[in-house]
Amino acid sequence: MLSNLAVRDIETLVHPYTNLATHREVGPLVLERGEGITVYDSAGKDYIEAMAGLWCTSLGYSNQELVETAYEQMKKLPFTHIFSGRSHDPAIELAEKLKEIAPVPISKVFYGASGSDANDTQIKLVWYMNNALGRPHKKKIISRLKGYHGVTVASASLTGLPNNHIDFDLPLPGILHTSCPHHYRFAEPGESEQDFSSRMAAELEEMILREGPDTVAAFIAEPVMGAGGAITPPDGYFEKINAVLAKYDVLFIADEVITGFGRTGNMFGTTTYGLNADTLSCAKAITSAYFPLSAVMINEAVYEVLVDQSRKIGVFGHGNTYAGHPVGCAVAVKTLEIYQRDKIVEHVRAVSPTFLRCLHKLAEHPLVGEARGVGLIGGIELVRDKLTKAPFEGKKGVGPKSVFFAQGEGLITRAMGDRVAFCPPLIIKEGEIEEMFARYERALDKTLDWAKAEGLLA
Ligand SMILES: Cc1ncc(COP(=O)(O)O)c(C=O)c1O
Repeated sequence: MLSNLAVRDIETLVHPYTNLATHREVGPLVLERGEGITVYDSAGKDYIEAMAGLWCTSLGYSNQELVETAYEQMKKLPFTHIFSGRSHDPAIELAEKLKEIAPVPISKVFYGASGSDANDTQIKLVWYMNNALGRPHKKKIISRLKGYHGVTVASASLTGLPNNHIDFDLPLPGILHTSCPHHYRFAEPGESEQDFSSRMAAELEEMILREGPDTVAAFIAEPVMGAGGAITPPDGYFEKINAVLAKYDVLFIADEVITGFGRTGNMFGTTTYGLNADTLSCAKAITSAYFPLSAVMINEAVYEVLVDQSRKIGVFGHGNTYAGHPVGCAVAVKTLEIYQRDKIVEHVRAVSPTFLRCLHKLAEHPLVGEARGVGLIGGIELVRDKLTKAPFEGKKGVGPKSVFFAQGEGLITRAMGDRVAFCPPLIIKEGEIEEMFARYERALDKTLDWAKAEGLLA
């Protein structure tokens, strides 16, 4: 029996990333409030939020300092844009802080309101810059299969997942996808991680040569692939990718939308994996998701081009109404202050061994083929046969089924096909990590019983 709220939801909403046909039958999970790492539904049931919402609520659900900061800023100056040279203190302070903690030399910061628009901006900057530099043919951008970079027309084109392209008439021409560096799934039998990484880099180089280096402008990558399945890179991967990009003068855009601000055990994933990034996209944990805000960080070379073009054209003709929203910037400044004051990165490092131990223990379960992570992010892959790594057939929905059972156990996590991710708020404590995985283990056992009853196992 659906609740009144559920019926009203079905009558009124189109939900992002939802099977809209199924939703009409099952209705929504209506959440009402949150506390620490826990959220409560409208019936009062508690759930550990093992995904920090959508990889974003890093400081959990009840941070009063962030709430008060937003309230104070709303009282003082709830809005001003930063078009036409207008500015305000929080926008400036945040940019200063971001420059201070950036993992590579950064000259300036450009604000947006989502990870998607940040990556859209990245594409526009690459095109704009290469026109300005008299390289009108150097425009192609290479992303990766299973990469996730957003949903706008251009950023969805960067995204390397079929559901973001099918029937949306995407990707746009000039956006290409190189191989997915998922060793467990795509390595040849016996191929070491280093050899696999060399092959990935060689395939990227072949693509650049095939397209013509003078036509390839940029490469974009997440340090850890998120929505593609919480996939950590194989050993040596970015070192080898860096070398290829440098050889052909291809700009490296690091998409730090998930990995930024401590997730991997360093302030940025770029540091954890040694990306030679030229520019970075950030969002999500920049405000602990308490306010929509994104930031594109650019280096001096890119910035100088924008200045020259402004002289020539008369204006830098790009930006959204909510770019540099004062409330978002104030919340972000406070968020970064809390990360530093409460030593969040150190906390992630301290609890990560427990997280990884529990994650790796899942690999002992008959359904789990791979379990791998870094810091406080990890993914597992459910398989039909552990020995051969054979996946479940077609759309049996084993991953989503485990997430459904997890919900029953009081745990919110996310399946991407038969990969399931864990990415809890960074404030999670060791005991809570153990409880989170204990709940998922119970869900896995139920999934196993279900899979056996359905005759899905090898
Ligand atoms: C790595 C990465 N880039 C970009 C995006 C898009 O961000 P948004 O959903 O805020 O548009 C996401 C969202 O999950 C992401 O994980």
